[in-house]
Amino acid sequence: MKEKNSIHVFAPATSANFICGYDILGLALDEPGDEVILKKVDRPGVTITKITGDNGLLPLDSTKNTVGACVQMILDHLQRNDIGIEIELHKKMPIGSGLGSSAASTIAGLFAINQLLGEPLSRKELLPFALRGEELACGHGHADNVAPSLLGGITLIRSYQPLDVINLPVPSELCCSVIFPHVEVPTRAARQILRTQVELKKAAQQWGNIAGLVSGLFSNDYDLISRSLQDDLIEPARSILIPEFDAMRQITREAGALGFGISGSGPSVVSFTKGLDKAKEITEILKEHLKSKHIGSNGYSSTVNTRGAVVIS
Ligand code: HSE
Repeated sequence: MKEKNSIHVFAPATSANFICGYDILGLALDEPGDEVILKKVDRPGVTITKITGDNGLLPLDSTKNTVGACVQMILDHLQRNDIGIEIELHKKMPIGSGLGSSAASTIAGLFAINQLLGEPLSRKELLPFALRGEELACGHGHADNVAPSLLGGITLIRSYQPLDVINLPVPSELCCSVIFPHVEVPTRAARQILRTQVELKKAAQQWGNIAGLVSGLFSNDYDLISRSLQDDLIEPARSILIPEFDAMRQITREAGALGFGISGSGPSVVSFTKGLDKAKEITEILKEHLKSKHIGSNGYSSTVNTRGAVVIS
């Protein structure tokens, strides 16, 4: 592919863990997502010229910003430091929300620089750089947001060393409702509260659920998917950081969701449904419930986004 002078890219939000698959399962959403515009300039170096939508939270220093750092990694890797890159980052989603905000920015940057340079690397070859970006943003290089944001669909991280990422089938009617209650839970903090050791009995139950979920995705078995959407390892520790968590679970159960849990490290919660209408209904009910408790929220209803990062222009 030919090199370009400028490019505008979108990378989608993601919901990591898929309830039972801590750090190994994730899926891409239709919306929200982040956008970057990259321009080639004569003066070598990577410069962030503009960030919008971040309420001033993100660093403009390109060595500290995950987008700038990842673009620089690719230039170093390809030995293309002869050129300069100017970056605009347009955040279109809340930060620290459990929607893979840092991952969407990282992927938008990586996908954009690779397209700008004529696609020298495959999508999967970009993933190790994305892990380093996540490490910079939240202290740990987990792949369950960056992989679905880049590749689209539902992804399984079979192994981190070596990195082995697999796209799983997406049942055609599988949809989700994601609610972001307006409280902040940084991923770094939500990881620090987790125990590093687990009881063998609970681990075995979790393996059963993960295997059941993957099997249900292959066989389009919504009942099996529903039975498998349970997390006894991570949720008990993290759910206390999320307002109205138990009440929201009860509401979604009564409304007929397949399953409910924490999206990524929270505070967003995700409900899985069969059909988009059901997802929209649940989004509205949960938003209304939070409003009645004087808690503001954003709500998104989405099919599973199978495209991942895309070029806008
Ligand atoms: N798997 C990660 C976690 C996702 O649960 O901490 C963070 O978005």
